[in-house]
Amino acid sequence: MQESSKMRFHLTIATVSLLISIAVCTDNRAAMATKCVNTLGITFYTAAQLNTIFACADPQVYATPTNTTAMISVAKDCIINNSGSKAIAALSLYANINSCLSPDDILTLATEWATPLTKLTKTLTNKCLKKIKTCKAAGTAQEACLQKLYTLAKAAITKAYVDKICKKFVKQNLSKAQYACGVKYAPQVMNITGYKCATLTIS
Ligand SMILES: *[C@@H]1O[C@H](CO)[C@@H](O)[C@H](O)[C@H]1NC(C)=O
Ligand SMILES: *[C@@H]1O[C@H](CO)[C@@H](O)[C@H](O)[C@H]1NC(C)=O
Ligand SMILES: *[C@@H]1O[C@H](CO)[C@@H](O)[C@H](O)[C@H]1NC(C)=O
Ligand SMILES: *[C@@H]1O[C@H](CO)[C@@H](O)[C@H](O)[C@H]1NC(C)=O
Repeated sequence: MQESSKMRFHLTIATVSLLISIAVCTDNRAAMATKCVNTLGITFYTAAQLNTIFACADPQVYATPTNTTAMISVAKDCIINNSGSKAIAALSLYANINSCLSPDDILTLATEWATPLTKLTKTLTNKCLKKIKTCKAAGTAQEACLQKLYTLAKAAITKAYVDKICKKFVKQNLSKAQYACGVKYAPQVMNITGYKCATLTIS
């Protein structure tokens, strides 16, 4: 190769690498998944697995951002469909939690808890809803709108935010026994170090 074409070749490589790295860095869905693991302390799923689950549920979020029932239903399917390697661990955790909560069932309780949790997170979910509505109304494509949503979510969902919502929820909606089961089994899905919510005294 001549010097000039070598140079052009190197420049092309450098440009392509730069474009790829920009594309990767601006994948806010992936950044959110990484934040869940590295900052919020999720241990049950890897960032790559979370990214897959998010991407699976996203079309429903874009299609029906106000239909909570539809979104929860698809999110559940996405979790089940993408938990292949975690199925056994999840099943054993499910059995252990239920024996701790007996005679209650965690899935039944979770359905009841959806209402208070939705209320507690209303400010943020309203912001997200507004973002997606405005974006759709402007004729922006699905993936671009979802990327904007992840930018908003990633900035808002800090460890302090999760801790605040968690504390309010525990204090108003959990019995002493339910809280004890939560604190006992939560470490199997996340690192609870640093969450004040895990060290409350419930009477
Ligand atoms: C919300 O989604 C559910 C499940 O897909 C559907 O049955 C229901 O009709 C939807 N509700 C509204 C208000 O569109
Ligand atoms: C989950 O997997 C089933 C079976 O393969 C499929 O029919 C369904 O569409 C999947 N659901 C989602 C939300 O990906
Ligand atoms: C959660 O707490 C709120 C406020 O005290 C109460 O209105 C609601 O009924 C509770 N919900 C559940 C499922 O415990
Ligand atoms: C759990 O989180 C704490 C606080 O963020 C951190 O210092 C610690 O290294 C984490 N532990 C593990 C096992 O990741």
